[in-house]
Amino acid sequence: MTEDVRARFGPVAANYAHAKFHSSPEGLREVVELARPQLGDLALDVATGTGHVALALAPHVRRVYGLDLTREMLDQARRVTAERDLMNVEWVIGDAVRLPFADETFDLYTVRAAPHHFLDVDHFLHEAYRVLRPGRHAVFVDCAPPMPARDVLHEVEKRRDPSHVMSRTVEEWVELLEHAGFVVDSAIPRELDWDFEDWMRTMAVPAPMVAELAEIVESAEGEARRQLRPERRDGRLWHAYWHALIRAERPG
Ligand SMILES: C[S@@+](CC[C@H](N)C(=O)[O-])C[C@H]1O[C@@H](n2cnc3c(N)ncnc32)[C@H](O)[C@@H]1O
Repeated sequence: MTEDVRARFGPVAANYAHAKFHSSPEGLREVVELARPQLGDLALDVATGTGHVALALAPHVRRVYGLDLTREMLDQARRVTAERDLMNVEWVIGDAVRLPFADETFDLYTVRAAPHHFLDVDHFLHEAYRVLRPGRHAVFVDCAPPMPARDVLHEVEKRRDPSHVMSRTVEEWVELLEHAGFVVDSAIPRELDWDFEDWMRTMAVPAPMVAELAEIVESAEGEARRQLRPERRDGRLWHAYWHALIRAERPG
């Protein structure tokens, strides 16, 4: 699976540096607000991709590490770090389920738009808990469609990006986090207005497959259709998409 992730993200790394959702200032502000960073913090952003969240945290913390499996994604992050002349950001190649850090290292842990790629979620959460200092917080943001829209989107996600494993609902995330020992402070479902073609472009999906995947969304029925609300605006497909925004504490 780690090879799948690298094979998928390596060739499209430059797209992620500018991707609409990933680089959106409002989205980044929301993560920073949820994380409530302190100037003395040592922070870790896992599956950092091209480093959007780590770079947004950098001005608010002592030092931030951005970790990712895919070298090409981190190359993009390094380019931005050099452009902005940032001195308190480190980029590390590594796996979210086997973090190369000692127990109780970090004051803040963040992960965004990535846990749906992780095969072993219990291990991922165990690692998040392990590297966080007691009494400190973690922020988990990931796609979290409600049922039954998730079933429709699952097929689309899997074909768009075979390294997609599974999205979880907000309720499932809360259960998993509590099982891992976290105390969940807040778990907010966020519905987003989703630009389907833009989403496909980020992963360089070929045109015939874009048409097939659009057909899956547009032919959804019943409750899934009511949730997804697919519509064409000037010929472009838009539909609902969902994220979970979760702040959780490793109890002291
Ligand atoms: C959609 S990008 C998310 C980027 C970033 N978190 C953001 O919000 O802009 C997903 C990233 O997860 C990384 N990834 C997937 N599985 C991983 C794992 N097990 N450990 C570390 N990184 C992983 C991929 O390499 C990719 O860069």
